[in-house]
Amino acid sequence: MTTLPSFQAITARCNRLEQIIRLQGLIAGERNNPQLSSLVMKEVARVMDADRVTLFLYDTESNELRADYGDGLESGAIVVPLKMGVIGAALSRRRSINIVNAQEHAFFNNITDKGSGYRTDTMLALPIIASNGSVLGGLQLINKFGGRFTQQDENTLAAAARTIAEQSKNGQIDAEIARREISTLQENIGCDRSAVFRLDEKSGHLVSVFASGTTDTISVKIKLGIAGYVALTGEALLVADPYSDARFDASFDRSTGYRTQNILAIPLKTAANEILGVVQVLNKYGGCFAADDVKLLETIAGAIGTALENRNLIRELDRQFHSLLEVMAASLDSRDKLTAGHSLRVAQLAVAIAAALGFTAEDTDILKVAATLHDYGKVGVDDAVLRKNGTLSASEYQHIKTHAETTFDILAKVHFAHKYRSVPLIASSHHEALDGSGYPHGLREHEIPLMSKILSVADVFEALTADRHYRKGMTEAAALAILDAGSGTKFDGRIVQALKQSLAQRDQATT
Ligand SMILES: [Fe+2]
Repeated sequence: MTTLPSFQAITARCNRLEQIIRLQGLIAGERNNPQLSSLVMKEVARVMDADRVTLFLYDTESNELRADYGDGLESGAIVVPLKMGVIGAALSRRRSINIVNAQEHAFFNNITDKGSGYRTDTMLALPIIASNGSVLGGLQLINKFGGRFTQQDENTLAAAARTIAEQSKNGQIDAEIARREISTLQENIGCDRSAVFRLDEKSGHLVSVFASGTTDTISVKIKLGIAGYVALTGEALLVADPYSDARFDASFDRSTGYRTQNILAIPLKTAANEILGVVQVLNKYGGCFAADDVKLLETIAGAIGTALENRNLIRELDRQFHSLLEVMAASLDSRDKLTAGHSLRVAQLAVAIAAALGFTAEDTDILKVAATLHDYGKVGVDDAVLRKNGTLSASEYQHIKTHAETTFDILAKVHFAHKYRSVPLIASSHHEALDGSGYPHGLREHEIPLMSKILSVADVFEALTADRHYRKGMTEAAALAILDAGSGTKFDGRIVQALKQSLAQRDQATT
């Protein structure tokens, strides 16, 4: 016998499903964690009352669909050509397909059933489409308990697919997202307090990343309390009556007047099982935490753990990358003491111009990398020419001009992360001029990347104001006058204005 669920129950179910899918999004494309994927997909199956749920990801290279997780099957075990089966039909038609009697249906491909002995009766398949219209994959639900998939199921699943698509386009993972997730899930679990602690190994403390009910940072010794026990053992712990548990530390309750009635604490781990911290929820409304809550919190802890780990990894990689750049710039500086620091000062000026032009943080970062490396090709210029005291001969000038092209040749060999892919072009075009009189390619106006135009202004301004072998640096006003004179022919006037604006702001800040 089936009873119709209330409107509130359906809404709650949708919200819960969306949150689960968002968590899946947090980990998608990042560290492969089959156990976590399995838990998430099981949750989706449970919420949707389906026996099996499979997330298919579209592999553009092979034109195949690969199961990211098939309940009861090894991950990646199902691979189907794009146009095959019900899921293939849903993707190529770009709409959901809801089937009552799968075995009789024209689209149904019973190879998987035959191989596994499983029998598919009802099926709901729908595509996951990115905002740019490209197919990312599909979701497939099999065998609805107690009947067929309804229009409501289709709508719920469509919302979930949209969330997955949104997550896929912004690959950014942040612990902040995880923080928001658990705050929302606190409402879902139905408890009074929740907190995420990170393990600070230096001090041996658990330090709150966030804790509901307080804006203070909570710091507790790892040897104390339930959270400490979980961090030390790496095991989840459900405590129904803390005051009769020797591991419970009542000092926090005593100092705040709060009364802890029950606790569920789960360790945050890396994929390599190292402990990163603890997620803790307190005081379940109307009773104690149940096995269901443990499972849900474990799923969330997995996502937060991955987010924290990724954030640490990304920061470390970023530091490594930028320090490597500085070493590259410094190695160039060591060739010529008088131009030492030129690249870094050009980078500072370029960043200031970018700020005045309203660049995003990401674009500013790309510009900074290109600025730091813009003259790197000078490693190929002879010492005698590079350090020459006095005017360069025509052939020496030709020789020094090769540095722009050499910058490109060297940087083009570096395997830059995707967002930095235009760095070789930007860096090597810093001597191009609007009127086509620059080098190495004599590019004009719109042919020159905007960031190269910024480098050009920053480079000339720095070179004019700095001391050289053959002259003292000129004043900033004199250098700006030269840039003004070249505005519209050599330099982009808006960029010269932006430089002036940034210098004025600097002067205001220092007076
Ligand atoms: Fe240069």
